[in-house]
Amino acid sequence: HTSSSSLYSTSPRSMGLASAAERVAAEFEYSKEDVNRGVQAFIEQMDEGLGKVGATMSQIPTYVTAVPNGTEKGLYMAVDLGGTNFRVCSIQLHGNSTFSLTQSKVAIPKDLMVAKTSHELFSFLAKQIELFLKTHHGEHYQSHTERKASMIGLGGYKDEEIFSLGFTFSFPVQQYGINKGTLIRWTKGFDIHDTVGKDVCALLQKEIDALSLPVRVAALVNDTVGTLMARSYTSPGKTGTLLGAIFGTGTNGAYVEKLGKVTKLKNMGKEAGEIDESTGEMIVNTEWGSFDNHMSVLPDTPYDKDLDRESVNPGIQMFEKRVSGMFLGEILRRAIIALVNDPSVPLFSDEDSSRNDVHSTTIIHPSSPLYQQWGLDTSFLSITSGDSSSGLKVTRQTLDVDYGVSAASAEDAEAVRLIAAAVGKRAARLSAVAIAAVVISTDSLARTGDDVDIGVDGSLVEFYPNFEDYIREALRDIPQIGPQGEKRIRIGIAKDGSGVGAALIALVADKAMRAGPP
Ligand code: GLC
Repeated sequence: HTSSSSLYSTSPRSMGLASAAERVAAEFEYSKEDVNRGVQAFIEQMDEGLGKVGATMSQIPTYVTAVPNGTEKGLYMAVDLGGTNFRVCSIQLHGNSTFSLTQSKVAIPKDLMVAKTSHELFSFLAKQIELFLKTHHGEHYQSHTERKASMIGLGGYKDEEIFSLGFTFSFPVQQYGINKGTLIRWTKGFDIHDTVGKDVCALLQKEIDALSLPVRVAALVNDTVGTLMARSYTSPGKTGTLLGAIFGTGTNGAYVEKLGKVTKLKNMGKEAGEIDESTGEMIVNTEWGSFDNHMSVLPDTPYDKDLDRESVNPGIQMFEKRVSGMFLGEILRRAIIALVNDPSVPLFSDEDSSRNDVHSTTIIHPSSPLYQQWGLDTSFLSITSGDSSSGLKVTRQTLDVDYGVSAASAEDAEAVRLIAAAVGKRAARLSAVAIAAVVISTDSLARTGDDVDIGVDGSLVEFYPNFEDYIREALRDIPQIGPQGEKRIRIGIAKDGSGVGAALIALVADKAMRAGPP
């Protein structure tokens, strides 16, 4: 299969493969002006969310009012639900900015993500916790198993036998206290109707108690908050960490806000004294995945539109749908299929058969995942963007083995890569909008002469080549930041951040509980 544009140039709609790919790639361009308009709107929607419940950007108060300084110590448990896997871990905080972590991880069965009842999902989670205790903290676990027949809940345990657990639950939750919060809506493909509006900590505690495990759900934590805490613990600077952000299956950020700016707290029925006001700050979970749901500034290609319309939550998480790992593969897939279906574009075409019938001329196997919704994994974007093999051999092999395209040419692969890069770059530039808005609205560059520290985690920042470089390029495009400010923004991966962060918040919650009500 070689490129032979002359073969197609007789068609009036004829277009070379390269120029067709460039045309599609151009649809994903997100200019300097777009970035700046985005930042403006983002700051406005952040402010709106601080003032009222039910805004596009939820701006959820977390009741976490201090970030750690690295001296925290103790053994805690954490569980993490929010993406593809459920993780259970125990974390020993050593008190010198280091920790050791034991963890187990299982893929969440797809049918549980859309189960009929909360019980199905949460009892599965509790069973994983039991398994973890048996495997890694066997002594502790077994001594209780013998006695557990007679016990319900935590009643039979001595205080020091009970693990405090931080529950990282990475969905929008209306939080009412450090371990109380009701699910506002599911995101990222989860959809269990009867969980919405329920206290997810209580749901988990109930299933833990049903198994008589010595575990107390002490804190409810969003992964972004965990990332922020973990980053502060492991790299405490003069000014602490400003923002924890996830660019993974979903995207979101939590940042340190002035308590006085969280004006909606007054209307949320919080009694004075319930919030520790000593730091004058509170971590706010932005839920920026839903930035601009009404689409005033977000880019909107035909592929974005179709993806949204056919998703389980049309009109919701519109920013996330353009930025995060769950969606980028699907955007790319739709762009590829649009080209394949265009008879004037020779993408993945079999030049031996006639061009009259689209289906008979493609080299895509009929059962290829490329024809299925969500069939193209976002990891493909990372693979092809990082492919430096000659003739894009790696990309072609992946197309062959994983996607049923058995004889893609180097030109095919080049076309796909060009579009993939454009989708990835747009995502990174949008990510920069979110980061910049937080930095600017908190006046962080001006407030301190020090660097502004940001902790990040997630498959995109971790694996997508040049994601951070693209972010930085866009940051320099923003006048309030510019090349000078961009240099002062420190971005560091907080590996296992959500686990460590949840442990740290469990620690804070524990201390507060032992100290009794203020
Ligand atoms: C989704 C969730 C949010 C989470 C993010 C990253 O946006 O709504 O709570 O932080 O994904 O996992």
